[in-house]
Amino acid sequence: MAGGEFDFSDQDFQRVRRIINEIAGISMADSKRELVYGRLAKRLRQRGFQRFSDYCDLLEAGDDEAEQREFVNALTTNLTAFFRELHHFDFLGKELLPTLIRARSLSNRRIRIWSAGCSTGEEPYSIAMVVRETLPSVGWDVKILATDLDSNVLATAERGVYEWNRVKDLSEARLRRWFQKGRNAQSGWVRTAPALRDLITFRQLNLMDDWPMRGPFDLIFCRNVVIYFDKPTQSVLFERFADLLIERGHLFVGHSESLFKVTERFAPLGKTIYQKCL
Ligand SMILES: C[S@@+](CC[C@H](N)C(=O)[O-])C[C@H]1O[C@@H](n2cnc3c(N)ncnc32)[C@H](O)[C@@H]1O
Repeated sequence: MAGGEFDFSDQDFQRVRRIINEIAGISMADSKRELVYGRLAKRLRQRGFQRFSDYCDLLEAGDDEAEQREFVNALTTNLTAFFRELHHFDFLGKELLPTLIRARSLSNRRIRIWSAGCSTGEEPYSIAMVVRETLPSVGWDVKILATDLDSNVLATAERGVYEWNRVKDLSEARLRRWFQKGRNAQSGWVRTAPALRDLITFRQLNLMDDWPMRGPFDLIFCRNVVIYFDKPTQSVLFERFADLLIERGHLFVGHSESLFKVTERFAPLGKTIYQKCL
């Protein structure tokens, strides 16, 4: 960047774009140049580099996995919130889970949910609250897998500790039932209840890599993640989600994401909710 602390040429920006695309499938628009500079400046400072080209050399050499992780963590966008896109949670609690409860026989009371790109955990904990509030307390085997590429956000998710202002808009009933308030040094913080944490397994997973789990999942939440991928990458990912879902399983995507002309494996059920059809 001209006049900036570090040398950052057009060519360096293209290299950064290529590397993050190769590792994470993330496509960065031309307009992200300043954002890239801002997010990576700290990494260069910490590693004692003056030029982005030297930092890119290090990443491309491929033998510093820890720095590659820091690079990815710096470039991912992790914005999230409890009950973000509330209509998904209403649908889950009022329609989808009640239908499953009615449809499943005694021997098949098993539900598997995947929160893919879970960021700091608000999404899987919101799912867990709805599951606990809707399903009978005994007789059901429910598991939520929550994954993200970014190791920092995943550590926060696993701790389940949040600042008060992240939860302050939840209902009194939910706050009382699902969060423990911190005292003394922890005042101003809350921790998710064990009954929620027990449902969730957190794992680091790059959606571009092979996936170790066999599934099948009943539902997959992958919201506000594919917005960072190009259309061919989205097509491949949605195919893989379809392969891992049960017949007529559900997929939830983010408010600005659509499967239209990206895959034919899903039929729309309304506002960013899809059902596997092929
Ligand atoms: C904006 S957050 C969305 C969080 C949550 N799903 C929501 O809608 O509130 C996007 C998340 O996708 C993750 N992500 C980006 N590329 C990924 C990849 N290739 N594999 C797995 N996660 C990825 C980021 O680390 C980030 O935490």
